[in-house]
Amino acid sequence: MSPLLLFSPDAAPFFSRTIKGMLYYSAAIRRLCDHGGTFVKEQLNEIFERCDGAPSDLIPILQDIQDVLGYLPREAMTETARFLNMAETSVYGVATFYTQFQLSRPGRHRIKVCHGTACHVRGASEITKAVAAKLGIGPGETTDDFEFTVEAVACFGSCALAPVMVVNDKVYGNVTPERVVEILEDLN
Ligand code: FES
Repeated sequence: MSPLLLFSPDAAPFFSRTIKGMLYYSAAIRRLCDHGGTFVKEQLNEIFERCDGAPSDLIPILQDIQDVLGYLPREAMTETARFLNMAETSVYGVATFYTQFQLSRPGRHRIKVCHGTACHVRGASEITKAVAAKLGIGPGETTDDFEFTVEAVACFGSCALAPVMVVNDKVYGNVTPERVVEILEDLN
């Protein structure tokens, strides 16, 4: 908008929209900041500030929210739908379509046990059992204290190291049930 137009009557709708938008986003930020008490306000502000509200912003927004929160809480998807003026089911559909998005709160430590063919043949089931015996949870579950999440995943591309377990992005190869216990105890 030209600076001269700021003083014309035509500018009223512009300011109205802007103020409404600011109120809306600050409310959204407040709600998301309440999430788990851990939300970083500055980062969410950056997410909103970067967006034009175009439908093509959807995936970048979801990625940014997940980067900050570690997953996509339902409320975050609701706010995203409102922001982009699209159906909540559309946002949910995208979030569930791409495996990069996590819809439930993960534990602080993410334990991924590979169950690809090579790892399966070389004892992946025993590794998963050892993890379950140590943590009390199986694949797809998170401990009640949100310290650990266990996942069974497909090939990591490190088949020569099978069986493979990945903990917080660190790859452990040729793991044994005994080694699993050591690795998990070292995390505490
Ligand atoms: S099958 Fe496990 S790394 Fe390939």
